[in-house]
Amino acid sequence: MQIDILTLFPEMFSNLEHSIVGRARKSGKIDINFHNFRDFATNNQKHVDDMPYGGGQGMLLMPQPIFDTLDSFPHENARVLMMDPAGRTFDQAFAEELASEEQLVFLCGHYEGFDERIKTLVTDEVSLGDYVLTGGEVAASVMIDATVRLIPDVLGKKASHEDDSFSSGLLEYPQYTRPENFRGLSVPEVLMSGHHENIRKWRLTESLAKTLRLRPDLLDTYDFTEEVSDIVRQ
Ligand code: ADE
Repeated sequence: MQIDILTLFPEMFSNLEHSIVGRARKSGKIDINFHNFRDFATNNQKHVDDMPYGGGQGMLLMPQPIFDTLDSFPHENARVLMMDPAGRTFDQAFAEELASEEQLVFLCGHYEGFDERIKTLVTDEVSLGDYVLTGGEVAASVMIDATVRLIPDVLGKKASHEDDSFSSGLLEYPQYTRPENFRGLSVPEVLMSGHHENIRKWRLTESLAKTLRLRPDLLDTYDFTEEVSDIVRQ
């Protein structure tokens, strides 16, 4: 996968040099390029923003530096994602969708926002959540991290992300490792029984209970199987 990031602050993406994303870059599974759109400013002061027509607070990113930056590299079939608090909220399903693309372009704004004409260049306006950040860089970093780990072979085992919270529609069940007893806190008996079917049922029940307790909203769209409906009735 190729990822192109349009930003005034490429140094804010140092997190993408480490851990799983860093390894995916070194092994060539993903390639990340930065494009500082200030390099494309045509005025002497290298300004990329200006005051809004009609008046109002703050500055807007001008179309020219963004259009010229996008013209400078091929991206015919890319998803072009504009980081915008007013956009569609990013979630696990969207990360899964992005993980199957060949090229992603992230457009990170600062200041009050974008000149509306920039939106003619984008395929998706995406928000990290219902809050306003100082710029799109942190949002793009999070989206890249969540997407890259879903690319086949980026995580060690294929199964490593299939049990994740959200991928089944429920939160992930509780997990334990050694020791069996730690400061009086013990591991549930069933997990040490070696009885795979009982363990599977226990995990499903715990996932459901945890989702009900922490994120009952997820159950509104959850596709209840016969087995899960039985657990609810019990
Ligand atoms: N830019 C500022 N706030 C943002 C948010 N919540 N999501 C994406 N981009 C942003």
